Amino acid sequence: MQLSLLLLSSVAAATPLTAVDKRQTATLCEQYGYWSGNGYEVNNNNWGKDAGSGQQCTYVDNASSSGVTWHTTWNWSGGENNVKSYANCGLQVPAGRLVSSINSMKTSVSWTLTNSNVRADVAYDIFTAADPNHDHSSGDYELMIWLARLGDVYPIGTSQGNVNVAGQNWDLWVGNNGAMKVFSFIAGSPVNSFNADVKEFYTYLESSQGFPSSSQYLLTFQMGTEPFTGEQTTLTVNNYSVNLA
Ligand SMILES: *[C@@H]1O[C@H](CO)[C@@H](O)[C@H](O)[C@H]1NC(C)=O
Ligand SMILES: *[C@@H]1O[C@H](CO)[C@@H](O)[C@H](O)[C@H]1NC(C)=O
Ligand SMILES: *[C@@H]1O[C@H](CO)[C@@H](O)[C@H](O)[C@H]1NC(C)=O
Repeated sequence: MQLSLLLLSSVAAATPLTAVDKRQTATLCEQYGYWSGNGYEVNNNNWGKDAGSGQQCTYVDNASSSGVTWHTTWNWSGGENNVKSYANCGLQVPAGRLVSSINSMKTSVSWTLTNSNVRADVAYDIFTAADPNHDHSSGDYELMIWLARLGDVYPIGTSQGNVNVAGQNWDLWVGNNGAMKVFSFIAGSPVNSFNADVKEFYTYLESSQGFPSSSQYLLTFQMGTEPFTGEQTTLTVNNYSVNLA
């Protein structure tokens, strides 16, 4: 006991105070473990965990107002067709912004997975609603951009075929989740580095799917992963950023 106390104090003494790590970091292992800072938020969001068994923790590695680097580690089995979680990082969207009043929604991110032999998506998830005070766990409309579809997992609804938006081809799926209409743009192969103006997706949806941009308020702007099943894997997300202008 004496010895270990001595060791601890000598380690502490060896660390100069000026070297204090100014990175913003967090470890989130609770079902809804949550962190916020610099205009962003990160949620472990294991909302569907009871459909199977497994565990997931999410870690904030570095955050500044120009972007957030984070990772999430999970393993899930059982409940084959149930999403277990949506660990994500989101912009804290300023209230009262109609989609039509936002000229651009520039975002960039890059990501890696240590084990891609899983059934999961890596996706943006963006809710909008006519009520600016709608709760942030759903909306009237949901826009998903699947940067990766791994394994035999499917978005809600039915495929409308191939569309080209923001310089890239996507398989567009449209369906309903209860009262919420869901648009999912699915990349044909994983897009590990994404740099786009998401307003182009809304412009497309307004002209081809009747999306009412001038009466929908932006509620959330998140990027993360929805695992169904798979053995231990880590998704690392580098410098996720969103700029609304
Ligand atoms: C997940 O990993 C943990 C730690 O390695 C292990 O104890 C647990 O049994 C695993 N669960 C599943 C469902 O694979
Ligand atoms: C953390 O982010 C800031 C701002 O982007 C950057 O200057 C810094 O190098 C990053 N630090 C690490 C350890 O990644
Ligand atoms: C993160 O991305 C933003 C937006 O593209 C950029 O301004 C910033 O320099 C990037 N930061 C790092 C550490 O790469």
